[in-house]
Amino acid sequence: MDHLLTEDQKMVRDTIREFAADQIAPGAADRDEKEEYPAEILKKLGELGFMGVNTPERYGGAGMDMVSYFLVVDEISRADASAGVVISVNNSLICYPLEKFATEQQKQKWLIPAASGKMLGAFCLTEPDAGSDAANLKTTARRDGDDYVINGTKSFTTNGQNADFYILLASTDKAATTKGITAFLVPRDLEGVQPGKKEKKMGIRGSDCCPVVYDNVRVPVENRLGEEGNGFKIAMTALDSGRVGIAAQALGVAQAALDAAKAYAKERVQFGRPISSFQAIQFKLADMEMLVNASRMLIYLAATKKDHGARFTTEAAMAKLFASDMVMKVTQEALQIHGGVGYTKEYPVERFLRDAKVTEIYEGTSEIQRFVIARSILKD
Ligand code: CAA
Repeated sequence: MDHLLTEDQKMVRDTIREFAADQIAPGAADRDEKEEYPAEILKKLGELGFMGVNTPERYGGAGMDMVSYFLVVDEISRADASAGVVISVNNSLICYPLEKFATEQQKQKWLIPAASGKMLGAFCLTEPDAGSDAANLKTTARRDGDDYVINGTKSFTTNGQNADFYILLASTDKAATTKGITAFLVPRDLEGVQPGKKEKKMGIRGSDCCPVVYDNVRVPVENRLGEEGNGFKIAMTALDSGRVGIAAQALGVAQAALDAAKAYAKERVQFGRPISSFQAIQFKLADMEMLVNASRMLIYLAATKKDHGARFTTEAAMAKLFASDMVMKVTQEALQIHGGVGYTKEYPVERFLRDAKVTEIYEGTSEIQRFVIARSILKD
């Protein structure tokens, strides 16, 4: 897609591609095996400005556009999808809503450290009974003088154990449903905040994901993000950007699987010739190349729409839906091309397949993306 990119975008892509190949990819299999969080890598990514790619420079970020952001997540995920999701969450679900909805004082306190890699954020929306039905929150925030008192349990919080603070969504008025949800900034070390045990996951095993219990957690009113009752919109706005990030994560994993399949097909000899000379394999590779590129274009569409300042909810949903579907197909075919060795941990394709699956689930399942797209095209 070089001809669609500006010189700046190409430079960002080449920088992160080189960094990812040198410093992220080599340890990815080991971190997956040990379920090890890529702390050192994230520190370096922060220093390079990749924790707040879109955040303006005056707020600690790199001040780059959304296309650059998707290229960054794509290249990082191509090397290690676990590092990819940490970057995506901090950029999309933390820095983006802070930039859009925080007060100047909050930006100074939370956005600058988050975008410059000095603090890591996590996004606490999902609960045991509020997954796709994200508005059905049982976590409550009760106003008490100049504080709110928060009680509840969040589940599947990416970065839950490693984050310095959370953007937490809680119900301040149950009867008002979506208009009764409010967002808060909650430091992880506050009394009553208890991150739980790390989930043992099928894929992206290097990223941490855990429940977080809030037991009578007292936060001052100044930690409220946006107005009371505006939290659901803040969460949905953040998720628009998040879905582009996850689409880019899926794209990176798919590109890695395709690269591995091409290389293996050229080197593996059966019936006296490389398997890449058989049409059965060529057709698989052709389909994979086409799907990867189609996905890249849909992500580009969503990212450029955001860069033009337009609402990109539907395009983000399409980009994520297509990319997560695509990465499942591409990683399965990559494994099939590898045959028996693909099923072992000697080769990376089984990890790619395991890493791929979650992209159909988090930041809105594929079913939710279809719902978002259908609703938008039928509303007129
Ligand atoms: N941007 C701005 N506002 C939005 C919006 C968006 N993208 N989507 C909805 N809204 C607004 C609506 O306009 C509406 O406002 P009004 O009442 O003023 O018109 C309000 O929010 C309520 O919206 P809905 O009526 O659409 O609410 P709903 O209850 O029908 O839910 C839904 C819609 C799309 C199903 C939503 O619940 C959803 O996206 N569910 C999936 C949840 C999800 O993605 N969870 C991911 C968890 S985070 C995660 O996975 C991170 C991680 O760890 C990696």
